[in-house]
Amino acid sequence: MEERAGQPRTIELNDGSRMPILGFGTWKPEAIGSDMYQRAVEAAIAAGYRHIDTAYCYGIETEVGKAIQSKIQQGIIRRQDMFIVSKLWCTHHASEDIPVCLNTSLIDLQLDYLDLYLMHFPVGLKKMGDDLFPEKDGKILTTDIDYVNVWKGLEALKATGKVKSIGVSNFTIEQLERLLYVAKIPPAVNQVELHPYLVQSDLIDYCKSKNIALTAHSPFGSPGRPSEHQRGDMDPRTLLDDPVVGDIAKKHKRTPGQVLLRYHIQQSIAVIPNSMKPHHILENTKIFDFTLDEENMNALRSLNRGWRACIIPQLEPHPFYPFK
Ligand SMILES: NC(=O)c1ccc[n+]([C@@H]2O[C@H](COP(=O)([O-])OP(=O)(O)OC[C@H]3O[C@@H](n4cnc5c(N)ncnc54)[C@H](OP(=O)(O)O)[C@@H]3O)[C@@H](O)[C@H]2O)c1
Repeated sequence: MEERAGQPRTIELNDGSRMPILGFGTWKPEAIGSDMYQRAVEAAIAAGYRHIDTAYCYGIETEVGKAIQSKIQQGIIRRQDMFIVSKLWCTHHASEDIPVCLNTSLIDLQLDYLDLYLMHFPVGLKKMGDDLFPEKDGKILTTDIDYVNVWKGLEALKATGKVKSIGVSNFTIEQLERLLYVAKIPPAVNQVELHPYLVQSDLIDYCKSKNIALTAHSPFGSPGRPSEHQRGDMDPRTLLDDPVVGDIAKKHKRTPGQVLLRYHIQQSIAVIPNSMKPHHILENTKIFDFTLDEENMNALRSLNRGWRACIIPQLEPHPFYPFK
């Protein structure tokens, strides 16, 4: 990947580590159990991605691990060239379960350490076997474990060296504020859904003011998310088909996808698009050699409608649910 248009390729985190600004997302539930993931992550590494975003709850860390190992064995990368991110799942918020979740990820990924470990979501879920969303009588079973205590567990993991940086995901300003009040180590990153339909300027300004880096998940509005996450007429047209995005893309002789990714990196926000298609995986790397002007950025921001692709409505009654 080339570096032009004055765009730094990494973001410096508040603990001194550097995170590549473009990463490859790996959430694709319908592909679990196939070798599609391994092939997609191998294609991503071949295309130049050095930041891979995965999670315990995606159920595909074994495939991601095989892809990383195969590229190391081919001499394409060394471990230290890669920035690997995983996430603690909500069923493992009890202090004794936190290292168990990390160790499972490390074993599956065939790694000694992660570059960044995130608390995936502020709401705790009951631990019942391997269930990711334990249910009784049709209700998801939550816990009242405080995310502030979970953060202490992440701080302890950092001390072991098995995770280089720690952060959170899907946290609100209020939750970050509460966390910062007690944290010995401030979160390096907050990974949240961001795109022109969900601009979140207040959250962006707040994180910048506290030196917490942002990573934008679902930058295309997650058009391939599982059907249970789709809301029919409640969902807007897909961002990739939005005429405003399309017009800007045409002006720059780019694709809508490239415009939606450039929108983040120009704000020094990391972005982690997912794709299973080699030509999209490559296309999504070509975002470093053009610039969106202020008019383009404002036109994209004007699409804001506070719409989220990724919600868990069953958890809405929980006091820590972040998307009220
Ligand atoms: N922290 C969290 O709670 C959280 C939540 C959601 C996601 N994430 C992370 O963020 C990553 C990205 O988000 P996401 O997977 O929800 O959705 P996304 O990246 O917004 O969208 C992925 C979809 O866009 C399509 N696509 C990709 N590149 C394209 C292109 N250039 N042109 C047209 N279509 C394209 C892909 O289809 P094809 O396969 O056909 O290309 C795929 O269906 C995830 O994979 C995951 O790592 C984190």
